[in-house]
Amino acid sequence: MRIILLGAPGAGKGTQAQFIMEQYGIPQISTGDMLRAAIKAGTPLGLEAKKVMDAGQLVSDDLIIGLVKERIAQDDCAKGFLLDGFPRTIPQADAMVENGIDIDHVIEIDVPDEEIVKRMSGRRVHPGSGRVYHIVYNPPKEEGKDDVTGEELQIRADDEEATVRKRLGIYHEQTKPLVDYYGKFAAEGKTKYSKFDGTQTVSAVSEQLSAALK
Ligand code: AP5
Repeated sequence: MRIILLGAPGAGKGTQAQFIMEQYGIPQISTGDMLRAAIKAGTPLGLEAKKVMDAGQLVSDDLIIGLVKERIAQDDCAKGFLLDGFPRTIPQADAMVENGIDIDHVIEIDVPDEEIVKRMSGRRVHPGSGRVYHIVYNPPKEEGKDDVTGEELQIRADDEEATVRKRLGIYHEQTKPLVDYYGKFAAEGKTKYSKFDGTQTVSAVSEQLSAALK
């Protein structure tokens, strides 16, 4: 099972990725989480990515394509994987075709921009695992603590409103064209394509996703 999760920043890709991983036992490949791990580790890649991410811009295609190629080659991806936050530009999608990586299902989660801006102010994350919460819509069992490890939750550096609006602008310019790109793939029978209304509750979206993936 090879899946792409497509949607604006804050549409709920990371949230639904947790559900799909548990349901199907395939690894989540989140380019955002990989970059944040590199920043935390202080690697040269992390230092380069930090400035770009904090400004709400996209990291270079070459760097991201290299990261994903390396990750997909690992053993745990043999049964399939879930791409979260990749591809995000047409050159990134083209790179998958050039490398012979077929995709079984593209899942689009659609949420209007203003709803996303409201959501991001309440997002809390567990950096170690990538688990995502919301203080109102998807709260942890204990306030401010990760459900599994009990460690402190954090606010992401790029969740400030001005940065979120910049990220949304970049999404519409550079990532939204992938909706047509994969729409054509689906019309040619090369992949399945399903679109979900991401303004429903987290569990309602998960239920519909589960039905579509069966
Ligand atoms: P990345 O980490 O990929 O961020 P993103 O795509 O902007 O997506 P987010 O993680 O912000 O949102 P999400 O859709 O996962 O939503 P979530 O589930 O958290 O990328 C960060 C940066 O890295 C980029 O800006 C770029 O610089 C760089 N980068 C990464 N990949 C790249 C690439 N391929 N190329 C170039 N650069 C790259 O949900 C959001 C909130 O809403 C949470 O609080 C959640 O609890 C809540 N929520 C979720 N679902 C619902 C619901 N149904 N109802 C109510 N609340 C909900």
